Amino acid sequence: MAAHERGAGGRWRARKTGSVHRLLSGFVTDVATFDDPSFYGNRWAGVYDEHHADLDPAAAAEFLAGLAGGGRVLELAIGTGRVALPLAGRGIAVEGVDASAAMVERLRAKPGGASIPVTIGDMAEVPVSGPFTLVYLVFNTLFGLLTQARQAGCFRNVAQALGPDGVFVIECFVPDLARYDRDQRVQTLAVTEDSATVELSRHDPAGQRVTTQIVTLDGQGMHLHPVALRYSWPSELDLMAGQADLRLRERYSDWDRQPFDSGSGKHVSVYQRT
Ligand SMILES: C[S@@+](CC[C@H](N)C(=O)[O-])C[C@H]1O[C@@H](n2cnc3c(N)ncnc32)[C@H](O)[C@@H]1O
Repeated sequence: MAAHERGAGGRWRARKTGSVHRLLSGFVTDVATFDDPSFYGNRWAGVYDEHHADLDPAAAAEFLAGLAGGGRVLELAIGTGRVALPLAGRGIAVEGVDASAAMVERLRAKPGGASIPVTIGDMAEVPVSGPFTLVYLVFNTLFGLLTQARQAGCFRNVAQALGPDGVFVIECFVPDLARYDRDQRVQTLAVTEDSATVELSRHDPAGQRVTTQIVTLDGQGMHLHPVALRYSWPSELDLMAGQADLRLRERYSDWDRQPFDSGSGKHVSVYQRT
């Protein structure tokens, strides 16, 4: 089956079949779109742990363990188990949801990973039955839901899955529009003897969307790792929570419970039923 077809003006374009094709330009790209919930994970699974090796999940695991209350715990977008595995290692009954089978395969291959129940599905739908004492969604991943409606829907579905005293914890960055110069950003992330990694982003301020390619150039060629997000302000998230009959109980600037203020670059927020 041909991977390409002629588009307007006779230019080659990839057919939207959702599979991986070798384009005429000589590198492999996945022609699924950002709107496919499995897109991010399927493109990142092979390099995710390597790219995020510097992130220490200990403080997050400590914080979340304190809220688990001996009940069932659900991580939305569990990924390769960066946070779920240390939590499960404390004897907490963690379950997960993720859209990408490729990411979950990485989790399964790790010690303890095979015993964590994971449902493959869309986190906005919360495709598992509660009640949970704790549902959490960390590392800005709520913003991977690319519309306000999808994010608000996630809050509503989480609220349905929480037990009476259950809590929903999110970790998100606080938008910083100064990152973008005329709605774009180029940043050099790493340079070694044999490679360079740069981040190329476009910002859509009306849609609150940022589209990024992390591009690595090395002896094997060029490697593209795409990210799309729709950011929300903390106040907007609180409004979504309110519409889901959840209210903000605590907000910190990190997992060590440092106070949140207008200088904070991110927030860890705990919501409970109203
Ligand atoms: C940045 S990683 C975070 C993984 C893990 N929570 C961590 O902190 O390392 C984002 C994860 O979200 C998953 N994901 C993205 N959109 C999703 C969706 N709509 N439903 C379920 N999982 C999704 C990806 O497959 C990926 O595993």
